Amino acid sequence: MSVFWYGGDYNPEQWPAEVWRDDVRLMNRAGVNLASVGIFSWARIEPREGEFDFAWLDEVLDLLHAGGVRVDLATATASPPPWLAIAHPEILPVTENGVTLSSGSRQAYCPSSPVYRRYAARLVEAIVERYADHPALELWHVNNEYGCHVSHCYCDTSAAAFRDWLESKYGTIESLNDAWGTAFWSQHYAAFDEILPPRAAPTFKNPTQVLDFDRFSSDELLECYRAEAAIIRRASSVPITTNFMGFFKHADYWKWAQEVDIVSDDSYPDPADPQSPVYGAMQRDLMRSLGGGKPWLLMEQSPGAVNWRERNAAKLPGQMRAWSYQCIGRGADGILFFQWRQAVAGAEKFHAGMVPHGGTDTRVFREVEQLGAELRALSEIDDLLGTTVDASVAIVFDWDSWRAVEQQASPTAVSYIAGVFSWYRALASAGAMVDFVQPSDDLTARRVVVVPSLFVADDEQLVALDAYAAGGGTLVIGYLTAIVDPDLHVRTGGYLGALRETLGVWIEEFAPPASPDLAATGGGTPRALAVRGDLIGGLGAASLWGEYVRVDAASVDAVFEGGALHGQPAVTHHDRGAGTAWYVATQLDDAPLGALVDTILAAAGVDLLPKVTGVEFMRRGNHLLAINHSAGAVVLDVFGTDILTGVRASGLTLAPQGVAVVSAG
Ligand code: GLA
Repeated sequence: MSVFWYGGDYNPEQWPAEVWRDDVRLMNRAGVNLASVGIFSWARIEPREGEFDFAWLDEVLDLLHAGGVRVDLATATASPPPWLAIAHPEILPVTENGVTLSSGSRQAYCPSSPVYRRYAARLVEAIVERYADHPALELWHVNNEYGCHVSHCYCDTSAAAFRDWLESKYGTIESLNDAWGTAFWSQHYAAFDEILPPRAAPTFKNPTQVLDFDRFSSDELLECYRAEAAIIRRASSVPITTNFMGFFKHADYWKWAQEVDIVSDDSYPDPADPQSPVYGAMQRDLMRSLGGGKPWLLMEQSPGAVNWRERNAAKLPGQMRAWSYQCIGRGADGILFFQWRQAVAGAEKFHAGMVPHGGTDTRVFREVEQLGAELRALSEIDDLLGTTVDASVAIVFDWDSWRAVEQQASPTAVSYIAGVFSWYRALASAGAMVDFVQPSDDLTARRVVVVPSLFVADDEQLVALDAYAAGGGTLVIGYLTAIVDPDLHVRTGGYLGALRETLGVWIEEFAPPASPDLAATGGGTPRALAVRGDLIGGLGAASLWGEYVRVDAASVDAVFEGGALHGQPAVTHHDRGAGTAWYVATQLDDAPLGALVDTILAAAGVDLLPKVTGVEFMRRGNHLLAINHSAGAVVLDVFGTDILTGVRASGLTLAPQGVAVVSAG
């Protein structure tokens, strides 16, 4: 990319042709240089089976091209037209409860349906044939938010595809029976034909069946993507993407990211949630990490309020710009929106647009123009666009663990993301830049690797984590790690499996605190736990999880205080080879977790960013970016030139939502 991309979803089919010229004029005014076109255009491109109408799209692409706006062209397969479902009702998805979902909304297709795939392929072939050589084409946008509404389909077609997937995974029915533990509750299968998707059932379903169905469902969606991408690649060398959705449980993006030429993301943090700036930062860091550190693209954000929350908070003045810079600081090379012109009809007419219902004399449009102008200017600055971000701290993120630890009938009800977020928040507020990794990645350059919960772990992963610590790394393991293998069979002999050697501890028994809302009796004990240790700042609070940790060789840094766990280890560390391995046996509150993280980062010699309350700092290329997320002005004690204002200063004042991009020179 030679400029920062700037633009958004453009749905000209929702408007009469007279508006299109005005759109291009306004796009030029706003500095828009990339428009995502055709995402929901199937019914307009193919209004009747096999009858293609490209005249309107020709005109749109030519207009954009004449106006200097590049095109991210969609394959238009995200929302099949009504005629397809009428001719082939078997493409409609079916829920776990057996309800068939109808047309009239979007994404009403079964990902495994060969009929859907055939029609989608024909559409993609027609679009590619027509536009592969169009001079405006910059990027291919395959489908849209795969799995957003229909991540799992339970119809008979899906059932058959699931059986095929299982057969190629397991080879024989007996190896499936072993893996699924079907000796339990009389679930033994005599043949693959007997297997169904995990449809609604009287009580707990087979956990491995459920996890395999999650894996299968992600793979089926990925197959849809692959099939479209293969058609494109035969005729075009233009890069291909499909838009991810941040921390989306139903698609294993480690796998998906291997298949896209550029990672792109849709991101809608709630402006009303005070945690959103940090959660947003975590999402950006995941996107950068999925692409192995390469620049990524913010494919969608809202210029203002969305329309799908119970309360749709507007963005504060400057907040859209501030959050956009968060993406830039965390490795994005483009900022796009949903959508260009705010709709007047349909289910998203109250969702903000870059050109709002109120027109151009509006705060939103002025902010859109301002950011467009700034990004154009920033494209000229050396050492920002296209650069990478260095992070010496990494968090292990694992989709199987996420899915499995949140299944029913687990040791306790937990939110995997909340656990990851608590570590991320502690690391980010200590001033660390963080990447996300898999245990199989090369970890040697990381000073600290945090594993919030690798609930599902295979032997190679545990060996890799151990080798990282033994090789001189600082490994931090959180509770509910290495409890089961990839078939969800428990690792017996004291939980933690091979990490027992690494950590110098093992777990004898789980003892999560009771929930305050014991249903049967209305009683229960408070969820809060207390922990004590100098290293965590004395007496601290914890929640959610406790356990009986047995020490083989580790040093105990904090213990549970009070209750049945009184005096039991809560935080330990162990010298492992040339490195150190920490274990944390509970969900520490922010204060004790922050104290622990400060100690760990200092001992590991991690370079930290400046710290100012309410201010987010990021380093990208040769630049330090600062965003004031707080409600009051702040003065920053940083040196250099703010390239947004040209001010060379020590002591920059940032208003609320203010941004500085400070070059070291
Ligand atoms: C998603 C979709 C868009 C639109 C927005 C609204 O990101 O991809 O088509 O529905 O949500 O927030």
